[in-house]
Amino acid sequence: MAGPRYRIAVIPGDGIGQEVTPAALDVLGVVARRAGLTLETVEHPWGCDYYRETGRMMAPDALERLREADAIYLGAIGHPSVPDHVSVWELILPIRQRFEQYVNLRPMRLLPGVSCPLAGRGPADIDMVCVRENSEGEYAGVGGRVHRGTPHEVAEQTGVFTRAGIERVVRYAFRLAQSRPRRMLASATKSNALQHSMVLWDEVVEQLAPEYPDVAVRKYHVDALAARMVTHPQTLDVMVASNLFGDILTDLGAAVSGSLGVAPGANLNPERAHPSMFEPIHGSAPDIAGKGIANPVGAIWAGALMLDHLGHRDLHDRVVGAIEQVLSAAVVRTPDLGGTATTRDMMQAIVAAV
Ligand code: NAI
Ligand code: MG
Repeated sequence: MAGPRYRIAVIPGDGIGQEVTPAALDVLGVVARRAGLTLETVEHPWGCDYYRETGRMMAPDALERLREADAIYLGAIGHPSVPDHVSVWELILPIRQRFEQYVNLRPMRLLPGVSCPLAGRGPADIDMVCVRENSEGEYAGVGGRVHRGTPHEVAEQTGVFTRAGIERVVRYAFRLAQSRPRRMLASATKSNALQHSMVLWDEVVEQLAPEYPDVAVRKYHVDALAARMVTHPQTLDVMVASNLFGDILTDLGAAVSGSLGVAPGANLNPERAHPSMFEPIHGSAPDIAGKGIANPVGAIWAGALMLDHLGHRDLHDRVVGAIEQVLSAAVVRTPDLGGTATTRDMMQAIVAAV
């Protein structure tokens, strides 16, 4: 009997994206095969090399082609030869926006065996997950520049916050908090200084809170929340944040979890009207690209989140369990974790552990 089949659109992208993506697909392939699932991958060569050849980051019909997939897997995008606002605005943001991937889910956990840059902290202290708004806010792209190059040049970048947009992401965060043992939600705000957008944000959080009486919700100004992630990480569980705030808080979260290389992300369309996209949170790391030493854990963990989204929580747990086993054994580690292993060594150790 044939098991379920999933069509996965794969965009390895640039730099270490091309190194960690095959490692993640190897692990996923082994796990899927054993469970009787078929992951039918279709690879797309889009990214900065494609841009240099064609003047575009993706094929003209890319979004139509991606639409047919059950999920999208992305390595990383970005190369020093292409301005970052081009690579982000012509590839990642159109996918997130067109497919209404309004939740950017980013677990931030200190895994066993990984040394923490915060003194005296262990895995029990750092287990947070950020729900970042992913479709509007500060990254809505509204604004413009006038009087270019002149001394009175002006740039305006307008944040766009809608009640509906805030409500849907905050509801997702409340429900996620309900599913976790501590049932805590921290809302990142800045309503003291941003008296329009963030006051609306706070009002929506306050209005929804009574619908989730089992969740303890607290708001923090984002600067204070950043400090708290360093001084009292054990008091934080689920966080909900706007696009910009969540972007910054999750790099901090990845750093306190030991390395940017271990952190995964999921861009979710919770209604499943469109495909969701899974990626490590790190970028293309031009400083180490081509050396074969990138840590594939974030990419592999992102693949586990994809299996979870496809309905296979058990396989997610198996992959994350294998990652934990390899890291806690502390034998095979990439240089970002203080070892000398290659991307491939790490992948093979994780395959052996699943
Ligand atoms: P980055 O995440 O690529 O690298 C930051 C630092 O972390 C570097 O020192 C890098 O070597 C290290 N690092 C990152 N991932 C690692 C891994 N898996 N293993 C070991 N070390 C790792 O961020 P950066 O340098 O700011 O950006 C480089 C390029 O990536 C830029 O073009 C940027 O726009 C792009 N970028 C793309 C993202 C995406 O595709 N979603 C996200 C962030 C940045
Ligand atoms: Mg970021």
